[in-house]
Amino acid sequence: MHIHIVISVVLISLLNDIPTSCNGAYSYSLKVTKYVCIDRPYKESTLYFCKNIPRRNAPTMISMSIHVPQLYDNIILKVSLFYKFSTYQPFLITVNSEGCEFIRNPPQFGMEKLVYDIIQESAPELLLPCPVGNRTYTIDWYLQDRHAPKNIPAGDYKLQFKLVVHSNVTIFGMEVYCSVRNTGIVSTFITE
Ligand SMILES: *[C@@H]1O[C@H](CO)[C@@H](O)[C@H](O)[C@H]1NC(C)=O
Ligand SMILES: *[C@@H]1O[C@H](CO)[C@@H](O)[C@H](O)[C@H]1NC(C)=O
Repeated sequence: MHIHIVISVVLISLLNDIPTSCNGAYSYSLKVTKYVCIDRPYKESTLYFCKNIPRRNAPTMISMSIHVPQLYDNIILKVSLFYKFSTYQPFLITVNSEGCEFIRNPPQFGMEKLVYDIIQESAPELLLPCPVGNRTYTIDWYLQDRHAPKNIPAGDYKLQFKLVVHSNVTIFGMEVYCSVRNTGIVSTFITE
């Protein structure tokens, strides 16, 4: 259940600005306000640039380029979700997953498969077999609206991603600020 929620929110962060109607039930909009690269400067990698790119009539994008000179056989993906009450509070989920294992054995079903497929579509260079590194990753991140999650609570969120090696060295970190707004009930079958 919690995993399902975090994956939905991961998807939200990927979806940016796309108004979504979910199976005729509710409609809501997802808006990424900004992407921020965090924990800089990195000890074992060089961030050439990290740009938040707001666009008129299109979702906000992140454009980044990072050089990772070393090779790694183990890299941990950490995902933490924060929900804004008066300040951002940890909200339900912290995920730590072994990135190389995820790449070696792609999930075959469910939301994890969806996440894998989305990464494959939008940033396939992240899914090359381990060891990872010894290269520059240049990524413009923007995804398709068909990946929309079904339902998520309204509010302001901060989603934090980190790629960590040697248990505490951040190779790359990013925060995504987004808001989710209900825009009304669109189904004629629902009355309130
Ligand atoms: C790093 O990449 C270069 C080419 O981009 C290659 O020649 C070299 O062998 C690689 N180093 C390692 C340790 O894999
Ligand atoms: C990271 O871990 C190493 C060894 O486990 C330790 O010596 C070092 O102090 C740690 N650094 C931080 C910033 O926690």
